Amino acid sequence: MKITFVGAGYVGLVSGACLSDFGHEVTCIDTNPEKIELLSRGKSPIYEPGLEPLLQKGIGLKRLSFTTDWNQAIPEADVVFIAVGTPSSRRGDGYADLSYVYSAARTLAPLLKGYTVVVNKSTVPVGTAREVSRIIKEVNPSTDIDVASNPEFLREGAAIYDFTHPDRIVIGADSERAQEKLKEVYRPLYLANTPFVATNPETAELTKYASNAFLATKISFVNEMANLCEAVGAHVGDLVHGLGLDKRIGPKFLHPGPGYGGSCFPKDTLSLVRIAQEHGAPTRIVETVVEVNNAQKARMVRKIRQALGGNESGKTLAVLGLTFKPETDDLREAPAFSILPPLMEKGLRIRAHDPVGMIEAKRLLPEIFYCGNPYEACEEADAVCLMTEWNQYRALDLERVKSKMRQPIFIDLRNVYTPEIMKQAGFYYVSIGKKDVMTLLESQWPQKKEKRGSL
Ligand code: UGA
Repeated sequence: MKITFVGAGYVGLVSGACLSDFGHEVTCIDTNPEKIELLSRGKSPIYEPGLEPLLQKGIGLKRLSFTTDWNQAIPEADVVFIAVGTPSSRRGDGYADLSYVYSAARTLAPLLKGYTVVVNKSTVPVGTAREVSRIIKEVNPSTDIDVASNPEFLREGAAIYDFTHPDRIVIGADSERAQEKLKEVYRPLYLANTPFVATNPETAELTKYASNAFLATKISFVNEMANLCEAVGAHVGDLVHGLGLDKRIGPKFLHPGPGYGGSCFPKDTLSLVRIAQEHGAPTRIVETVVEVNNAQKARMVRKIRQALGGNESGKTLAVLGLTFKPETDDLREAPAFSILPPLMEKGLRIRAHDPVGMIEAKRLLPEIFYCGNPYEACEEADAVCLMTEWNQYRALDLERVKSKMRQPIFIDLRNVYTPEIMKQAGFYYVSIGKKDVMTLLESQWPQKKEKRGSL
């Protein structure tokens, strides 16, 4: 089958590469000629484990190609996926900006030949599939198309695995013909008994938002529980264990942290809130999730400030990890970029390390001193803050970390370490959801003079 992706971004690239591996002939269009040139040489513009070998395999087998030329890629296609960006609108009102989606629809419309299924792969508000269909038919009234919604549920950092081992495939299309075509696209998954949800475009569009909003709700819920644990002297790790063992709840997406970030949850929760308000059916739970997440980031600022004795001016913080999660170079809505600036404004100096995110971080926050490894970041630091749980920070040589620092304060915003390990290593340890840690270890802390209040 001939498949074209419009947009060689995260979703377009991963899906295109995986579908070429399923045996389809895939072409990816992008407007950026440098990106296309890079991709044609089998080089990935994004950091995603496993993607580059898959690109090279597809190119080598002549099943995967890249172009800026719509004329070359659209007319032959049986299925055209629109996988362009849908960022939050520049107006700052939370609505998704659909200009790239609509512009793609207008550009491809006159080039379509024969029956084609046009599929919205990007996360788009309810009603977008119908609007894309309207636009295409307006530009090219004689065209034979169906427009479907087929949302993607892959996670950055695990995208290839998620694409090839999905929990479900959701196909939103009104016609049987389009449903069948899309089943054919995913034939290997269909044969492997992956559940398929066949529905209308509106339901598919909303399923994507509902999934992300529900996951974001789990995170905000557990972050509030962690804060309550701190207040009442409970341990969030044990609480999550006890909670997650209930099969109706499950253990996943219950890791407390500095608040969710990335290119999806913050944007999609806001967008769902707006869609719901617009339709007179407000999603009050999701509205609160957004607020709780913002509050969690603000709370992290206070946590760091208090660990530093209530005054950050003139002090140095070593930050380990800047990306919104490990195994990605993506810094979009990364908690670090909400948490660090208010502290820097008050005179805190930052030395940071990240395995892959530093090139882009330098552009966004040039005031930070970027270091070649985590130990260099800890030099003369008054505290170290583990912001993103990259594997290389899970087994730090704590003696070496301590020997570099001015004072041994370890702020662990991902609960990678335990109070016991840190006590043994002689650190004053601040984490999430464990109230007694500060007082428990106070005796070991060398600079007890400064006062610490509660959050
Ligand atoms: C998310 C969804 O997990 C995917 O299913 C979806 O396809 C994708 O958005 C999308 O809409 O395209 P992603 O943003 O790559 O994927 O990352 P996640 O692994 O979901 O993490 C999102 C944020 O939540 C990160 O900041 C992470 O640190 C945080 N998180 C996650 C927690 O704080 N606790 C958890 O238990 C899990």
